[in-house]
Amino acid sequence: MILVVDFGSQTSHLIARRLKDLGVETKIVSPEEILLRQLEDQDDKSVKGIILSGGPASVYEKGAPSIDVKIFNLGIPILGICYGLQLTAHLLGGKVVSGKKEYGPVTLKIKDERLKMKDNNFSSIISHLSSQFVVWMSHGDEVIKLPRGFKTVGSSDGVPFAFVENKDKKIYGLQFHPEVEHTEFGLQVLKNFISICQKGHPERSEGSRDSSVAPQNDIINKIKQIVGEKDYVIGAVSGGVDSTVAATLTAKAIGKRFIPIYVDNGLMRKGTKQHVVKIFKKIGIKPIVVNAKGEMLVRLKKITDSEQKRKIIGNFYIDIFEKVRKKLLAKKLPVKYLLQGTIYSDVIESGAQRSPAGASAKEDQGSRHTAVIKSHHNVGGLPKKMKLKLLEPVRNFYKDEVREIGRSLGLPEEFVNKQPFPGPGFAVRIRGEVTRQRLKMEKKADEIVLSELQKAGILPNVFLSFPVMTNAYSTAVKGDGRNFGEVVALRIVESKDIMTSTWSRIPYGILQKISSRIVNEVPGVSRVVYDITTKPPATMEWE
Ligand code: XMP
Repeated sequence: MILVVDFGSQTSHLIARRLKDLGVETKIVSPEEILLRQLEDQDDKSVKGIILSGGPASVYEKGAPSIDVKIFNLGIPILGICYGLQLTAHLLGGKVVSGKKEYGPVTLKIKDERLKMKDNNFSSIISHLSSQFVVWMSHGDEVIKLPRGFKTVGSSDGVPFAFVENKDKKIYGLQFHPEVEHTEFGLQVLKNFISICQKGHPERSEGSRDSSVAPQNDIINKIKQIVGEKDYVIGAVSGGVDSTVAATLTAKAIGKRFIPIYVDNGLMRKGTKQHVVKIFKKIGIKPIVVNAKGEMLVRLKKITDSEQKRKIIGNFYIDIFEKVRKKLLAKKLPVKYLLQGTIYSDVIESGAQRSPAGASAKEDQGSRHTAVIKSHHNVGGLPKKMKLKLLEPVRNFYKDEVREIGRSLGLPEEFVNKQPFPGPGFAVRIRGEVTRQRLKMEKKADEIVLSELQKAGILPNVFLSFPVMTNAYSTAVKGDGRNFGEVVALRIVESKDIMTSTWSRIPYGILQKISSRIVNEVPGVSRVVYDITTKPPATMEWE
């Protein structure tokens, strides 16, 4: 077993997931827990390694999370990632300062001579690495002095101590994130650490992932257990992958006691209502469709703050669900649960603000030190007082895992591979006030982007594509007249699990076509710009 000590990183669970994918038993613990564990369980031989995660704090700040320094003397291999490296350095006599800030991709150069000597045996932390590769960073602090006994393995241009080790004590530190999809050789570094923990046992194969990859039967059984024999569940469905998979699982668990509801709030993509009806026809359940287009715009009037938008939309949904619940109660159908397609990245970004019905300790573990990035409306945007209990069967899974579960449930690729679309819809893609006019502009521009990517055959390879009404204005000359119109930003990104993304290298000809069509066909738009920022630091959405 390898313990992952969670200091509040956005990616602690991703570290655990990668270890599981590599066939290693893993447990996420809080720094407070590992202190107890170490004191009480000195001879627990099952722990073969410890990973100290990243986190939003600074080690030199008062109240920053820490661990008992004695863990470095247990003889157990330790890998510190980002904050974990900084904490290791800080506790063992090195120095950490607010230093060079790096977010996104940088090149790491391995300085270690062993690479040249082809010392590629499996117990070395640099086995099978290239001498130079791209890693992803997300840090504002930096180690500027290493503790005694440590040496540099690799550096980036900005950070000399980006990859360090104390070989004798088997303590390693990475300023970059090996767990994120876009770090090259990230899995290899983790494999190397695992091999060190196994003291030279042959590497386990990547294919030995445990059964939690597509655990649909477990989830269905859990839903049955939670809901019981009599209660009803209503479900917020949007036509997106997450809510469709959550709905299919629930329908399989409790059949017609699950009633899907689609709220037509006017903030969704063209054709979404028809898409939802089509999916649920396949699942064999007819959804209730609530027309809320007019009322939604009224509630959003004059609202410019994105968090406020999310909360208003969350509250509006709950009002609607309450009404539906009362109607069904009047028909003697006891509705107790509200199903939502919350997934793990929603939970992390919302700082795990709310627990679902039947959540195990594991599901909300490690959230104590996590920063709130935004309130995803299906997690943090919901009102505190709600009569319905939340049922969130895919809350513990990443996007690509949810797609996998969808496939194993037999959902067609057309639904499983659909682009994610935020719960609050176009409201978070229109910066500033959502007016009828700007919503119309956004929808038209969105259709253009989708149709051009579709025509070019690129759409299936794109994770997310959309225009943003930026609320910035610039000059254009249309015909012979001067025109002061809104700037549209185009965001097209590639990702698998949502935790990191990179902008799509769309051929210039296609970008040109999209730009020309938007400025020509969407009245009120003056120019189009292409967003070339990675996540981190920029989120995929603009709000
Ligand atoms: P970010 O912008 O956080 O987006 O990189 C990650 C994924 O989440 C979606 N997203 C949201 N979904 N409510 C949602 O239900 C929200 O407020 C929200 N903001 C972002 C986004 O579309 C992407 O798939």
